Parts: sequence; C-alpha cells; structure tokens
Amino acid sequence: MKPRLTVHMHTTLDGKIEGPHLFTRESLASQRHYYNLIVGEGSPFPGHRGWLAGTTTGDLATQYKKPELDPNAAEVPEGDFIAPHDEEIHHFSIDPRGRLGWEENYLQYFDTRAHIVELLSGQASNSYKAFLRKRGISYVVAGSDTLDLELALEKLQEHFGMEEFLLDGGGGVNWSFIKAGLVDEVSIVLSPVADGATDTASLFDANPKYNDTNPVAFTLISHTVLDDGSLWLRYRVDGPATPLN
Ligand SMILES: NC(=O)c1ccc[n+]([C@@H]2O[C@H](COP(=O)([O-])OP(=O)(O)OC[C@H]3O[C@@H](n4cnc5c(N)ncnc54)[C@H](OP(=O)(O)O)[C@@H]3O)[C@@H](O)[C@H]2O)c1
Repeated sequence: MKPRLTVHMHTTLDGKIEGPHLFTRESLASQRHYYNLIVGEGSPFPGHRGWLAGTTTGDLATQYKKPELDPNAAEVPEGDFIAPHDEEIHHFSIDPRGRLGWEENYLQYFDTRAHIVELLSGQASNSYKAFLRKRGISYVVAGSDTLDLELALEKLQEHFGMEEFLLDGGGGVNWSFIKAGLVDEVSIVLSPVADGATDTASLFDANPKYNDTNPVAFTLISHTVLDDGSLWLRYRVDGPATPLN
C-alpha cells in the first residue's frame, strides 16, 4: 500500500519559506512549533521516521560544499546501500545526480540528529556512491535520468518500514510530489511575519524541468491557533483544480 505523505512546512503570511524573516523572533517561535509537530511528544505524524528534502535545501545544509570524489574508486556493488546507524530519524535527501558534499553522515536539526539517506537516480556516478559509502551515508537508487519519486518512496518504505512520510521542502520538490499525485496532506505552520522578498522560495515553486503550473485544489481539514499567534493549517490534496469554463 502507498505510504501516507504529508508536505509539512512553515511559511510567512506571504507564503515564503526562506528569506530575511527567518532571522526574527516571530519566525523562530513558529519554527519551534513546526519542529515540535515533526518530532515532539504527541506529534500528529507518529508513523514517520524522518523527512524528505530537496537538493537546494541540501545545498544550504552542506553550505554548497562539493564532494571530494575519487575518479579511480573501485566499482561499488549495484543497488541501494544502508549504512549502519543508531539514529531513528532520517534526512532523506533528494539528489538525483549526486552532487551534495556531505561532511558527516548525519544532520543536526535543533535537538534531533538525523541520519542522511541520499535519494539518487541512475545519473549518480560510481565515485559519488563510493564517496557516500566512505562517509557512512546511506543511499537509495530510483529511476534512470531523474529520481522516480514513487519508486523512491516504495524503496524507503521497504528499507525503513515506514507507513508515513513527511516532505519538508523546499518549494521545488514539494510541487513535484504534489503534481505527481503522491501527497495526501499539506500541513502549514503560518507564521505572523512577512518580508515581501520577491527572490525567495515559496511553499510551492513550479519548475518547467520537472512540473507545470496547472492549478491544484485543496480542502481544509483543520485550523489551530498556536500560542505565538501562528496558525497551523491542514489541507487534503484534492487534485487538479476545476477550470472556470
Ligand atoms: N520553511 C520551511 O519549512 C522550509 C523547509 C525546507 C526547506 N526550506 C527552504 O527552502 C529553500 C529551498 O527551496 P527550493 O524550492 O529552492 O529548493 P528544493 O525544493 O530544496 O530543491 C529544488 C531543486 O531540487 C532538484 N530536484 C531534483 N529532483 C527534483 C524534482 N523531482 N522536482 C523538483 N526539483 C528537483 C532541482 O535541482 P537540479 O535541477 O539542479 O537537480 C531543483 O532545483 C531553502 O532556502 C530552504 O532553507 C524551508
């Protein structure tokens, strides 16, 4: 059975997921709420064991570091590689061509240490996979030219026994999973702050390389006022929106 997938994000009033607002008390308060909904006691997403995130989000986490590749690395065995790790939470990093220069096999997010699992396509080189193995970073291969999103989820379900996944941005990958019909719910912590920036990522950002701008409709499931004035909104994904004519 297909696992349940929820896009879980915090945004500004103007729908932004990055930018100057991040460095304000108001944003930090809602970021904490957002984080607690992922891993806090009584999380509404109890079945997940980590979150998926896009390549640009990975670029920021690695500070745009390039991997140190050995062009003469011995041929690695075919298929996926799950490195031994103690962490129960994972950062599933969408990186089809294998370009992120992770220095550790984990990512620290507030109090949570998440084991890194790279999601690669057939475009990732042998030397990149050898680099990941050397660093103790797990990887899953799904698709040939680009990442096969559905197959990647199936493989993660198989390897990690998860029935539920969180997709935590950015806007590029959020929209691809929505357009692929793989998302059940969108959960937003809407922070009472805005910065008006026009050059920053939004909750959903279409990219002609991967998807289109045909509208999608949602149905509100619930709305909760949080103690800092943030709104926690949950929407069901309905599918293509209805054209006027
Ligand atoms: N507020 C929040 O809750 C939250 C959560 C997470 C992240 N963020 C922020 O979001 C920002 C990044 O968002 P973003 O939208 O620019 O980037 P993103 O979604 O993290 O990554 C998009 C990039 O991923 C690659 N990609 C590979 N397969 C893809 C696919 N199937 N569909 C779409 N993209 C695919 C593409 O790069 P190539 O074409 O080069 O491969 C694409 O440009 C960062 O500032 C991050 O901090 C905010």
